[in-house]
Amino acid sequence: MTQAKQLSVQALQWSGHSLKVLDQRLLPQQICYDEYQDAEGVAEAIRSMRVRGAPAIGIAAAYGVVLSAIQHYPNPDWHTAVKIDIDHLAASRPTAVNLFWALDRMREALALNPDQPIAALTKTAQQIHSDDLAANLAMGEHGADIIGGNAAVLTHCNAGALATGGYGTALGVIRSLHHRGQLTKVYADETRPWLQGARLTVWELAQDGIPATLIADSAAAWLMKSGKIDWIIVGADRITANGDVANKIGTYSLAVLAKQHGVKVMVAAPSSTFDFAMPTGDHIEIEQRTAKELLPECYLEANSLVTAWNPVFDVTPAELITAIVTERGVVLNPGQNGVKSLMS
Ligand code: MRU
Repeated sequence: MTQAKQLSVQALQWSGHSLKVLDQRLLPQQICYDEYQDAEGVAEAIRSMRVRGAPAIGIAAAYGVVLSAIQHYPNPDWHTAVKIDIDHLAASRPTAVNLFWALDRMREALALNPDQPIAALTKTAQQIHSDDLAANLAMGEHGADIIGGNAAVLTHCNAGALATGGYGTALGVIRSLHHRGQLTKVYADETRPWLQGARLTVWELAQDGIPATLIADSAAAWLMKSGKIDWIIVGADRITANGDVANKIGTYSLAVLAKQHGVKVMVAAPSSTFDFAMPTGDHIEIEQRTAKELLPECYLEANSLVTAWNPVFDVTPAELITAIVTERGVVLNPGQNGVKSLMS
């Protein structure tokens, strides 16, 4: 596989003094990069979902901290200003733990290098970025090994290069299957209401010449009943100590359906997605987004009788998952075996 192939779609580009963010709200109609020179801008890019996907959010936030240091160092109050920016970045979205993991690493780098913050923070952010790509390449191989032959798969949301430092988690496994000649078919859910599947996943796969078939979310049960898929492969936003998995709303429904139909469920996620301090998925904060993402405009007036409930993640219990794939290895049946073996 060539380097160019690995990097065919890039959500984030670091220039040394600015961060270019591919505006994923505009895909697939427009490929437009916005350039940010401060942390406040990066926080807004995360909040508004110009950049989205757990690992990509963490990487973007890390570069946001670098931009903060470039902006404020060596003003007398630079340290306080950077801390305030880190807090703004942390408040941008609540569910994906990769954001908080990346900010913790940046805080550590700052604490260890108070005299040369810009160089130390840049090095750490670039390391977070390149480690994520390397983790995805490893997960792609581990995931394809577990599947172990030809497979037709269904994926949900976008857990691809667009959501990571490159190659993708779930889409990394799908790419690796494709490269091995073992991907017989890939279906993608639309992923309402934001349409990550319809707007991002099928587009991203097509960029790499991988044919994909889009289905309405509500067609998933019938797809499984028809015997058309072997595996569901998804990413994750947070995996707790007992192996519960928070991911895009609709993942839980897929896992319940998979049990009924004898379909296997794979979660592919780097170690930065694990929250070992959180015992179970019951404790995960599930982001609620604006009703505007769901409701037709005519219902948005103040006295409307029609409202919306818009949780954008759900939690799949560990016992519904066949395999959790990470760069460090694979846990089969996490509901029985737990995920402690992945702790370092
Ligand atoms: O709301 P989003 O688009 O940020 O949600 C993304 C997901 O749920 C992904 O499946 C998850 O972050 C894994 S991305 C490798």
